[in-house]
Amino acid sequence: MGAKLSLFAFLMFFALCSASPRKPYAPCKNLVLYFHDVIYNGENAANATSAIVAAPQGANLTKLAPQFHFGNIAVFDDPITLDNNFHSKPVGRAQGFYIYDTKNTFTSWFGFTFVLNSTEHQGTITFAGTDPILQKSRDVSVTGGTGDFFMHRGIATLMTDAFESEVYFRLRVDIKFYECW
Ligand SMILES: *[C@@H]1O[C@H](CO)[C@@H](O)[C@H](O)[C@H]1NC(C)=O
Ligand SMILES: *[C@@H]1O[C@H](CO)[C@@H](O)[C@H](O)[C@H]1NC(C)=O
Ligand SMILES: *[C@@H]1O[C@H](CO)[C@@H](O)[C@H](O)[C@H]1NC(C)=O
Repeated sequence: MGAKLSLFAFLMFFALCSASPRKPYAPCKNLVLYFHDVIYNGENAANATSAIVAAPQGANLTKLAPQFHFGNIAVFDDPITLDNNFHSKPVGRAQGFYIYDTKNTFTSWFGFTFVLNSTEHQGTITFAGTDPILQKSRDVSVTGGTGDFFMHRGIATLMTDAFESEVYFRLRVDIKFYECW
């Protein structure tokens, strides 16, 4: 009888544990930054910070490919600013690439690192994920960091803050770290 009771108590304990609701998550650190991508179009070499490095058959490296840019890969070294002004003093560089990987809509796959070197922040934050560009806001993973962001992880919400004729876009990056050290 005693053994049965303790087995019952034991099972109840696990049932209650698995049924208890998850704690609501709250970020341990927030950071909002902007970065500016000026795509090389054959004429803006001095200003461009992004280059198309791969294009599908029939397209070239100075104009994004016609079918939702599918097959294009761009590599970038973009300035990061604290506000949405292209001419603000950069606090670091956004370095990485995006791949247009969807044939029937504008979606890219982003892999990049924020290299921050300012009085406020020293270190890197690495991002990866799919970017359904037409959605107002989309989340990518923050996979890790170094320096001030040692071992940090979380989610970054990307929003297109400006877009000018396939040559310039500006993204607002709302970083929410859920793991801080
Ligand atoms: C690249 O392709 C675009 C669109 O087809 C065309 O207008 C442009 O002249 C091409 N540029 C080069 C350098 O071939
Ligand atoms: C960071 O900025 C300082 C001051 O401008 C510069 O001396 C240093 O080389 C920079 N570090 C990196 C890693 O870019
Ligand atoms: C560089 O590109 C940005 C964004 O499109 C634009 O605001 C700026 O006027 C350009 N500068 C030059 C010198 O072309």
